[in-house]
Amino acid sequence: TASDLAEEKGVELYIVGGFVRDLLLKKKNYDLDLVVSEDGMEFGKALAKKLGGRVKTHEKFNTAVVILENDLRVDVATLRFEYYELPGDLPKVTPGNLFHDLYRRDFTINAMAICLNRKRFGDLIDYFNGKRDLKDRIIRVLHSLSFIDDPTRILRALRFKHRFQFKIGKTTESLMLSAANLNIFERITGIRYLKEFKQLFAERNASFILDDFEKYGCLKFFGDKISIDHYIKQIALNIDSVLTWYKLLYKNSAEDWLLYLMAILIHSKRDERLKIAEKLTLKKRAKNILLNYKAFLREYSIFAKWQDRKLSEYYHFFKGVEIEILLFAIAFFDDEKYRKNISLYIDKYMDFKLYVSGKDVIKFGIKEGREIKKILDRVISEAIDYHITSKKEQIEILNRVIS
Ligand code: CTP
Repeated sequence: TASDLAEEKGVELYIVGGFVRDLLLKKKNYDLDLVVSEDGMEFGKALAKKLGGRVKTHEKFNTAVVILENDLRVDVATLRFEYYELPGDLPKVTPGNLFHDLYRRDFTINAMAICLNRKRFGDLIDYFNGKRDLKDRIIRVLHSLSFIDDPTRILRALRFKHRFQFKIGKTTESLMLSAANLNIFERITGIRYLKEFKQLFAERNASFILDDFEKYGCLKFFGDKISIDHYIKQIALNIDSVLTWYKLLYKNSAEDWLLYLMAILIHSKRDERLKIAEKLTLKKRAKNILLNYKAFLREYSIFAKWQDRKLSEYYHFFKGVEIEILLFAIAFFDDEKYRKNISLYIDKYMDFKLYVSGKDVIKFGIKEGREIKKILDRVISEAIDYHITSKKEQIEILNRVIS
């Protein structure tokens, strides 16, 4: 369809970037990046119309995003030549050609294109030997100012290195190290850093990234006090397993990256974490998690010391605590007993279904909110402690509690 449209409009059309890389690696990728020689925004609109998807446009960059039903996302950009006025700034854009468009990209493996025009359909355009680097499993930048132009590329290099188990090229590595020495991360905004941080620490077994993360200066964004010690690494290693376990349960997803951030900041004080949360422009939920998790760990370590607590006591203790904090606590505590009760809660009781509601209590003439809550809490406690999951039996408990 896109090819037809390119013929109709008489424009050049290419797939570029990660999709081409993953195609050559025979890996799935549902994000398609297209570039057209003219007016990407109009092309995107027309494509969405033909394919029946939604479209969002960005006039300033002359780009469009088409979102199709099956989660396929197509980014449409106009061929462009970008340059950076100041290091770390967003690029300035002028019309350009394919070579320039590819030259402004991060790594050789991400700077290949496939032509979609009929006459040259399927031709690989590879000005920088990306295919050879893919085969040799090497990450290489295209020019020596790449990390100065865009420091987030340091995080991206680590992401691809870890994901594909690639090496970083010699020159590229020394460019990364000198960029790190220049304190380059001070120049980028929290939003940009956060976006890449999230993606980096959403990779599987992300604990293995931490050494490189420190080596290439990425930690400096958080100030110069933080380093990765053995303790942090052990927690992060445990986070890897906890997340693998959690995903097997098919529960609603958690923000993985946040768990690693909690590990990195485990020795930091609350006010330091507040500063970092603000610098990263975290949303309210993530910010609260980052501020509160250490208090939870303290409270829980006292709470769980008591022997023979009932299941329902744990239930009420954990209820309302964010899933990321609970998962982190499993990774944090060495003691099996401390961990087991949290995992049991997540696996079995977090979504415990209570069929009795406030309305049922009101039928007994009880109207006061706090009283209703107290009664419901007692019902749920009994239901949990005696494993009562049927509606009929839960109503029996209610009758008993009230009489
Ligand atoms: N790109 C770049 N510099 C950046 C970000 C992106 O040069 N700082 C280019 C790369 O060519 C990259 C493409 O834009 O391939 C798309 O970026 P993105 O979707 O972020 O990355 P992908 O390579 O598609 O990675 P992923 O598979 O993780 O989505």
